Amino acid sequence: MNDKRFYITTPIYYPSGKLHIGHAYCTVATDAMARYKRLSGYDVMFLTGTDEHGQKIEDKAREAGVTPQQFVDDIVAAPGGVLDLWKLMNISYDRFIRTTDDYHVESIQKIFRKMYDNGDIYKGSYKGKYCKPCESFWTESQLTDGKCPDCGREVQDAEEEAYFFRASKYAGRVRDLLLNTGFLEPRSRVNEMVNNFIDCEGGLQDLCVSRTSFTWGVPVDFDPGHVVYVWLDALFNYMTALGYQNDKYDDLENFWPADVHFLGKEIVRFHAIYWPAFLMSMGLPLPKKVYGHGWLNFNGDKMSKSKGNVVDPHLLSERYGVDALRFFLLRTFPFGSDGNFTNELLIQTINVDLANDLGNLVSRTTAMAEKYFGGKLPEGRQPNPDLDDSLTAMVTGLRARYEEQMEKFQFQNALEDVFKVIQRANKYIDENAPWALAKDMDANGARLAAVLYNLLEAVRVCTVLLIPFMPESCGKIFTQIGADKAAQTWDSAEKWGVLPANVSVAKGENLFPRIDMNKELAELDRIQEEARKAALPPIEIEPQLDLVDFDTFSKCDFRAVKVKACENVRKSDKLLKFILDDGTGVDRQILSGIAMYYKPEELVGKTLVAIVNLPTRKMMSRESQGMLISAVHTEQGEERLHLIMVDDNIPAGAKLC
Ligand code: MSP
Repeated sequence: MNDKRFYITTPIYYPSGKLHIGHAYCTVATDAMARYKRLSGYDVMFLTGTDEHGQKIEDKAREAGVTPQQFVDDIVAAPGGVLDLWKLMNISYDRFIRTTDDYHVESIQKIFRKMYDNGDIYKGSYKGKYCKPCESFWTESQLTDGKCPDCGREVQDAEEEAYFFRASKYAGRVRDLLLNTGFLEPRSRVNEMVNNFIDCEGGLQDLCVSRTSFTWGVPVDFDPGHVVYVWLDALFNYMTALGYQNDKYDDLENFWPADVHFLGKEIVRFHAIYWPAFLMSMGLPLPKKVYGHGWLNFNGDKMSKSKGNVVDPHLLSERYGVDALRFFLLRTFPFGSDGNFTNELLIQTINVDLANDLGNLVSRTTAMAEKYFGGKLPEGRQPNPDLDDSLTAMVTGLRARYEEQMEKFQFQNALEDVFKVIQRANKYIDENAPWALAKDMDANGARLAAVLYNLLEAVRVCTVLLIPFMPESCGKIFTQIGADKAAQTWDSAEKWGVLPANVSVAKGENLFPRIDMNKELAELDRIQEEARKAALPPIEIEPQLDLVDFDTFSKCDFRAVKVKACENVRKSDKLLKFILDDGTGVDRQILSGIAMYYKPEELVGKTLVAIVNLPTRKMMSRESQGMLISAVHTEQGEERLHLIMVDDNIPAGAKLC
């Protein structure tokens, strides 16, 4: 059996709504890491899944009028759901856990009972604050400006009988783990955890681990009415998915302890404090590492609610290709820090790195091999150490530099190293000017063959190292440069001269077409606007008002009026000025805010309805003597007005009653 094993996990996602590009970020990173490890000879277990219990899901299901199970099934397993998204994004997970899976539920019940039996879970009463979206309990003093310190949202009072986990008992060991080992990375997150949750006033508090105010959770089997707190339920997924406390799987021995849990910074607290404390309580080995990556912000906000950017991974993949999107996420943002996602940055990265640098290198090299040698390089090559050696050295040392970064989860730096070589190779083309050599093939053919061979080798090595990020595109590049399976292995990425001397090359499709930035941004705006409108209810009408007595109603004097003249009010987009015959023989002037809906000339001669006993009021320095009656409704978020027009046989001044 292979003794090189690697177990890596993503957080399990809340299926409370659609996943956005921020969710995909962690999964893509985990996938790149898993693929890298597999390529370098490891037996990998890559786990992801969904965290399906909790009050938030129960509430959402109720709103939607379905059972919680139907609700989560729809988001996870229905077309366009989480499973489909990971398939689309080429996520090579080995196992997918749903916390509603029977085997997991059974394991959690056993775990809860064991902790109860060993005295680390006890019954008490909870009084404090609860953040429903985060499913987090807080004491008054932990709140930030009275709000949830994790997400900044309102918290609610919570008081109920509950079970507690004796986290306080493990405070010292967890503190030591954080401060004196490399358990939590990046290192910058360690002090925040220790200062805020362990070395704080009152020390590490015991954790409330059951709820009675809702039912959508794993039932505590020895105390009906209690369901297990969703974080205890969720964290143990990393072990139940290997077969801990169930017969479904038998992989604990092979893969536990995990090599690394990847997760976003706001849930570091659960993974770096409570998770090790739970495991200590159960006497289980701790994971080797917890890595808290940064957030992708959207206009300064972690949530994708803010307008302005398309963040739907389905749509982005469809427009730019899955590989370009995967690449962008890991090339652009340092994994440990926050980054600001914009569509502009995405397009720019595709244009610069993929179209200009990589795409160009591949298409120039293959095009020249076809043009000068009919696609098959001749065997005789003439090296020129002065021109070749610096490229060769850079390429053969690349895998080691890349691996050093990958081992630290510094995807951006690993890719930077690859792209330095790609840029160097593009420069090598200019330095060697193959087009000049090609002018005299008799004299320079062997040198030209060497230049092209060197370029193909540089492309080959870079492509092997790019597989974890862009698996499909790399396959296409291998086909274009004539690299067979042996020339695609991890070992081969350290070697020079793996392609056969008479390699056959075939220029294929342009893998990364350049995108016209302005046109594309305008198109994305249009798509977003359409989506916004489509999401709105098509027609909305105002709710009806309370009753009024007849006398009150009778005091309003509605009359038929005829439009004698109508014009736009200068400097106003909204107002039209009407001169009306109201039957009194004296013209009446009314201003009405309907210029967006009518041209003045089309209203002249029409019979409208006005209320004529309102006090005169001034609008844009002009008097308005009453008000024209319109019907109003909202269509796709926009207000629409329609003037009430009546039969032209009705004389001016006729009273409406
Ligand atoms: N269910 C818990 C995890 C339980 S793990 C035992 C959860 N789920 S989540 O769906 O809310 O978030 C899943 C992951 O997505 C988290 O790591 C979170 O940080 C990450 N992200 C959600 N929005 C994100 C960004 N905008 N940017 C980067 N990561 C983001 O938490």
